[in-house]
Amino acid sequence: MDNALILAQTHDHVRALLQGESSGHDWWHVYRVWRNAAHIATDERVDLFVVELAALLHDIADWKFHGGDVTAGPHAARTWLDTLTVDETVIAHVCEIIATMSFKGAGVASAMRTREGMVVQDADRLDAIGAIGIARTFAYGGHMNRAIWDPDRAPQPHASPEDYLAGTGSTIDHFYEKLLLLKDRMNTATARRLAEERHAFMELYLERFYAEWEGAL
Ligand code: NI
Repeated sequence: MDNALILAQTHDHVRALLQGESSGHDWWHVYRVWRNAAHIATDERVDLFVVELAALLHDIADWKFHGGDVTAGPHAARTWLDTLTVDETVIAHVCEIIATMSFKGAGVASAMRTREGMVVQDADRLDAIGAIGIARTFAYGGHMNRAIWDPDRAPQPHASPEDYLAGTGSTIDHFYEKLLLLKDRMNTATARRLAEERHAFMELYLERFYAEWEGAL
């Protein structure tokens, strides 16, 4: 099977799986990550086939929704790719990217080994910030039964993936525990540039949020 057909079948498979998902990890999140990754990749020397496959398959079994099991995502990706005729080296690379790309807490390292992995991680992180990131964060907060904000509680910098998973902070806390940290964790120059603008928009958003909270606007 040629690469274009593998990508087309994977696109349709993931779209069917994640259609209508309501936590912000739906098909359209994957679509944006896939587009972002292809855009970032134009400035990088990478295997675009690996980048696109990893972007399309990165959220079909998210560790956050599988009790912290980081093997669920790569396992689901491998099961799918095994049904197509994909090289083992490509499958192993895609699975490694999916296993290592997630944000798992302010104090937890999540460095990528390959340039392809860096591109996909950046693309996923861009979709977690800016206007889209704000929308997804509130959707995720609602999905996890979190308060919009609790002014009496301070954000918690999580030191381990377990702490991060067990976190019960408000959605506004999540900005400080994840979203606002991402611009300084981008791997590529292209993503860093895009992240600056999205970051500035989130700061403006928070400024207005606090002002409106006190009835000042
Ligand atoms: Ni994602």
